[in-house]
Amino acid sequence: MNKKLVIANWKMNPQTLLEARKLFSTTKNTASRLKKTKVVVAPPFIFISSLAGTKSRLYLGAQNVFWETRGAFTGEISPSMLSEMGVQYVIVGHSERRAIGETDEIVSKKLKTLIREEIIPILCVGESERDNHGHYLSFLSTQIKKSLAGIQKRNIKNIIIAYEPIWAIGKTASDAMDSHKLHETVLYIRKVLSEMYGRDIAKAVSIIYGGSAEPGNVAELMKNGNVMGFLVGHASLDVKGFSEILKIVDKS
Ligand code: 13P
Repeated sequence: MNKKLVIANWKMNPQTLLEARKLFSTTKNTASRLKKTKVVVAPPFIFISSLAGTKSRLYLGAQNVFWETRGAFTGEISPSMLSEMGVQYVIVGHSERRAIGETDEIVSKKLKTLIREEIIPILCVGESERDNHGHYLSFLSTQIKKSLAGIQKRNIKNIIIAYEPIWAIGKTASDAMDSHKLHETVLYIRKVLSEMYGRDIAKAVSIIYGGSAEPGNVAELMKNGNVMGFLVGHASLDVKGFSEILKIVDKS
């Protein structure tokens, strides 16, 4: 998994299937011209089956999943339902879901189910604020350790970690994280992974960044931030801007 990776998290957008189709097909065109970058779109569940089907260089993701495989769980979606639709990636533990009750324990259950189903989990972690005493580091460490609780060494390489500091989400490029601070944080995440799984495994895990990734900052974040890609929110809904991001990442 040494290709660069950009994941579009559409969140609860767009509002119609027509718009979703347009956005998907333009993104597909750009993705097909990239050489070194894998592109994933995670639309709302309801659009997935309409966007699936044709073989293309654009991969499908989902924004959530349930941890049980079948049964009486009203309103939930199972991993095998997603697999059947061609979904290969699922975002787990996004801060917007954690804010409405998704705990580290739930995250860990979802990761295990996804691994069993051979779907690649994108585990989101990130602090809500930074302080001068480094408390955010111990927060991050605990969040990573609890979210990965019970995940075995042989499976960890198949999980992508998306570092998304909550304070940088939904803003503009100038409010996003500084690339040198990102670099430090990525090193710290690898240190935590190394304590859990050893250095070689920690080095092999793919880490991407999310939080106001825009055309104006991705080149710098990629160059000095030590990440192999991005989880993009609002900028992935802007056809032109997202194409630009993809081209910049591919060239970086
Ligand atoms: P923005 O790119 O809108 O800041 O969102 C980031 C995010 O939450 C992606 O999952």
